[in-house]
Amino acid sequence: MAINLLNKEIDSLTCPALVVFSKASAQKEKLAKVTHSDLNKKLAATIEEKTITGKHQETVTFREMNYAGFRHVIVVGLGKENEIDHETVRQAVASAYEAVKALNVKEAALHFDGITTAKKDINAFLQATAEGLVMTSYVFDELKSTTKEKKATDELTIHVVTKAGDKTAKAAFTEGTILGNVVNFSRRLGDMPGNLMTPTILADSAAAAAKGIANLKVTIWDKARIKKERMGGLLGVSQGSDQEPRFIIMEYKGAAASKKPVCFVGKGLTFDCGGISIKPSANMEEMKYDMCGGANVIGTLLAIAQLKLKVNAVGLVASTENLVNGSATKPGDVHTARNGKTFEVNNTDAEGRLILADALSYATELEPQMICDAATLTGAMVIALGNTHTGYFTRNASLKNKIEKAAVESGEWVWNMPLTDFHVKDMKGTFADLSNISSGKGAGSATAAAFLEQFVGEGIPWAHFDIAGTGWAVGNRLPYAPKKGASGAMIRTFVEVAKAHI
Ligand code: BES
Ligand code: ZN
Ligand code: ZN
Repeated sequence: MAINLLNKEIDSLTCPALVVFSKASAQKEKLAKVTHSDLNKKLAATIEEKTITGKHQETVTFREMNYAGFRHVIVVGLGKENEIDHETVRQAVASAYEAVKALNVKEAALHFDGITTAKKDINAFLQATAEGLVMTSYVFDELKSTTKEKKATDELTIHVVTKAGDKTAKAAFTEGTILGNVVNFSRRLGDMPGNLMTPTILADSAAAAAKGIANLKVTIWDKARIKKERMGGLLGVSQGSDQEPRFIIMEYKGAAASKKPVCFVGKGLTFDCGGISIKPSANMEEMKYDMCGGANVIGTLLAIAQLKLKVNAVGLVASTENLVNGSATKPGDVHTARNGKTFEVNNTDAEGRLILADALSYATELEPQMICDAATLTGAMVIALGNTHTGYFTRNASLKNKIEKAAVESGEWVWNMPLTDFHVKDMKGTFADLSNISSGKGAGSATAAAFLEQFVGEGIPWAHFDIAGTGWAVGNRLPYAPKKGASGAMIRTFVEVAKAHI
């Protein structure tokens, strides 16, 4: 699918399909309104009989309507006028995309000016329209032999038609397109099975995607280098696997060299069977998604660079498998992280924190303005928040403030979780500095965060995002995300966080 911003009068076009919008009235007894005035008159009977109600995401398709230059007409509900925001728009255009797809046409025109007439929201809504359409168009079927033929949606172009065609409108639309494409790029990395998305392939994919993007450099450390760099956590986890680990460094220079970078760190566990503390078989295949934090950090850096943000940014992804061969780490083994702290591995399934320990130690050495990490870190987070909110942990009030604002901008839901000295105490080791599992009961996500905190330098604003519940399978909640696949969670929020540090 391609999208295209068209600065024209909607009625001047000829196109197989037209998408217009409807709004519900704030008063219950009042009828809905189609926001294209001529069609509002033409569809009066349908509105009267309440087939068109304006309900959010309602789609009513009129095949062969042959209205003006359009063969088919689709009416998509936006909900009540006073409740429309950029997330409503993102979700409404997702419904529009599905309705267009069902028509099997090659082109459709979307009446953007029907979404908003209030000038103030135009750019935010244009960005959301682009994001929503691009994200909804994502399919992962490249591993099916039967779907190799061209699909109608491969050749589909959706024209977003608006009279608002100034520079800022165009920039907002382009930003939405870039973000949507980057989210889809990261989703694909997540959806690839473990045999086709090894640490080596993940690193090479990051390098290939960054090629040709100005001021973005990718450096990949192999096992020998990781050893030389004293990354005992990453090495310790990887020693149970035949696949080599990788440490991926993405550096974007968008500001003066003197400006401290913003740093994003991701868990790139390409398959997590739990190691010797092996996981149960049920749903174990989902652990191919254990690299989604890493994939989304790679996406974040690609987005920041393509948007040419005036920041310096670094993305760090520690990548390995967590498997069980004869050399695998055993419960009780002690390893030393890059910052010199030692830890007992009392459960080999709590491996994400071990590889992040080295990545956060390295991030600290860069003296960044702030660090945000993303990881599918704990099952406890899925229990706590399900797939609605990403739980994040930080003790820095100013960063918390920036994150809350960023999430409002991106439309992604986050929830601030507690992190205290009590959680830190629970992670003390018996034979080493730390244990990788808590000595206390419950609060598994907070104690994991407390472990990570031991590797972040004093005074550096840091937040940890546990995307275990939101990294994949959120499509029952978000119409622009796949039902089962990777979501790309936190990419759009991280880009907003980066903007807050310009
Ligand atoms: N990758 C898992 C966390 C996970 C589980 C994410 C389910 C998404 C869905 C992580 O490596 C893990 O296994 N964590 C353990 C930690 C425990 C042993 C302290 C967990 O959450 O059970
Ligand atoms: Zn694990
Ligand atoms: Zn894991």
